Amino acid sequence: MGAPRVGIVGRRAASAVPGLLAAGAELAAVCELDPETLTRLGDALGVPPERRFQRYEDLLASGVDAVAIGTPMPLHAAQSIAALDAGKHVLCEVTAAVSLPECRALLAAVRRCGRVYMMAENYCYLRQNVLVTQLVREGAFGDCYYAEGEYVHDVKALHHDPDGAPTWRARWQVGVNGCTYGTHSLGPVMRWLGDERIASVSCLGSGVHTDPGHPMEDSVLMLCKLASGRLIRIRLDMMSNRPHAATNYTLQGTAGCYEAARAQGERDRIWLRSLGEPRWHDLEELSDRLPAWYGEGAALAAGSGHGGGDFFVGWDFARACRGEIPSPVPVGDAVTWTVAGLRSQESIARGGTPVPVPSLDDLEGLAAPQPRRPPQLVMRAPAGLPLPELQAPAGYTLRRAGPEDAAALTACLEAAFGGWDAERVHRALLDAPDVQATFVAESAGGRIVATASHREIPERFPGATYLHWVGADPAHAGLRLGALVSAAVLRYGRAERGLGEAVLETDDQRLAAVATYLALGFAPEYRDPGHPARWSAVFRALAEARRR
Ligand SMILES: NC(=O)c1ccc[n+]([C@@H]2O[C@H](COP(=O)([O-])OP(=O)(O)OC[C@H]3O[C@@H](n4cnc5c(N)ncnc54)[C@H](O)[C@@H]3O)[C@@H](O)[C@H]2O)c1
Repeated sequence: MGAPRVGIVGRRAASAVPGLLAAGAELAAVCELDPETLTRLGDALGVPPERRFQRYEDLLASGVDAVAIGTPMPLHAAQSIAALDAGKHVLCEVTAAVSLPECRALLAAVRRCGRVYMMAENYCYLRQNVLVTQLVREGAFGDCYYAEGEYVHDVKALHHDPDGAPTWRARWQVGVNGCTYGTHSLGPVMRWLGDERIASVSCLGSGVHTDPGHPMEDSVLMLCKLASGRLIRIRLDMMSNRPHAATNYTLQGTAGCYEAARAQGERDRIWLRSLGEPRWHDLEELSDRLPAWYGEGAALAAGSGHGGGDFFVGWDFARACRGEIPSPVPVGDAVTWTVAGLRSQESIARGGTPVPVPSLDDLEGLAAPQPRRPPQLVMRAPAGLPLPELQAPAGYTLRRAGPEDAAALTACLEAAFGGWDAERVHRALLDAPDVQATFVAESAGGRIVATASHREIPERFPGATYLHWVGADPAHAGLRLGALVSAAVLRYGRAERGLGEAVLETDDQRLAAVATYLALGFAPEYRDPGHPARWSAVFRALAEARRR
């Protein structure tokens, strides 16, 4: 896409405009319900009167390629879905939605429409958070296992309009008890803890003291237990009388820790084992480790809201619309961070009892009730199985894949199965916390043409390598590339993970894959009453295929 033509919806979305323009987007229209605000905004942004709309539907019909939504929270999901269904890319303010059904519908819409969706979580772009994220990615903190984020911001003044009528915030932010507005705190620390799945949340509050007109307790604490056992503590307080402290963060890893400045005049403090004896250093001493993209944008971002975060949100969204980068805060993250807060409402109502948080797969499964899919076929290879040599056919190479391969992996999996995009590749393979390695076969032309990943699912298959997403581009069939990448995974499981057995799950119609697995030494395992009959049918089909 050339310059995306973006429509601004709700006055808050104007904060993204400097970044959008700097990344080559065109400000094509503005939409505001309130006529005075519409005029003020249109004039300030230089949008001609015929490109100003009060009705959202008119904006969608006006030929824009993308929308930036900055309306009240309860409108986010419906407006995002309407835009996606109209073929627009979407940048939407936090939170992504205000209910689980909305989250499901949003996930389904992004998958259905194949457009860019980005949640405008500007706190991920705060300079100090960008630097800590970079250090985490470099491994400087070791294994990160605990983090805190706090949004302590007295916004009582925004709960009523000048006439004393409650605003949307009174209903949706402090009219509900729980961590209703947690993504500014949760988003950055989820990045640091590897964007792992949140398994459960527990939530407790301090009681209502300051502003008894609202059900939300003054300070609300949400504990997020991640699937691996790692822990996040979030504090949300939008009512207490005090100076604000909306960027409190803590990170603890095995080789370092970080404490954000908590008050005016303080500095962000860091200690890393690589810096020597345990004593605090000023985070800025490490500012040369800021990623290059941040340096490129920082000069342009100077003076922009939220420490430049608002600029970077617009900048990255425009770049994502142009296909230069995947969405930096895709729908999976937006929904994950939002759902934790939604589930905290049940926990706080039940006295802090931990409540499970549905995974994205759970949510997607619930999105459209479907006939129950029969359980997949299971195959198991014993420990000590002799493995074939890793000999790639002439003209092909075998190697391990990394984040830079997202686009090529997408193309390969799309050719093999259909239904893949870069976001799914990140979620299911490259960024999945339980996927340890992905191996690929590459053609002489540099295309990834086969892939297989190493996953561990100890709760279902303890002590075993789980052979995950084995796929090959049909244009390169007959070269045993599937066997090659699978064998690489099995060797990795033994050598690097110390695992003996290997298991996999497959579907009845994947006859070529089943033949490959049998040749590698996998045997069927009957884990479901329907499995024996289904395996008999698979073997009959394989025999038939051999006869032909
Ligand atoms: N990321 C951040 O740092 C940050 C900061 C402030 C607000 N926000 C988020 O931005 C959003 C807006 O917050 P706010 O404080 O600006 O709220 P606000 O009430 O001050 O402004 C909302 C605006 O949306 C307009 N609006 C309402 N319905 C509309 C519709 N259907 N079509 C077009 N315009 C409509 C209203 O007229 C109003 O001008 C919220 O979701 C909030 O959570 C995020």
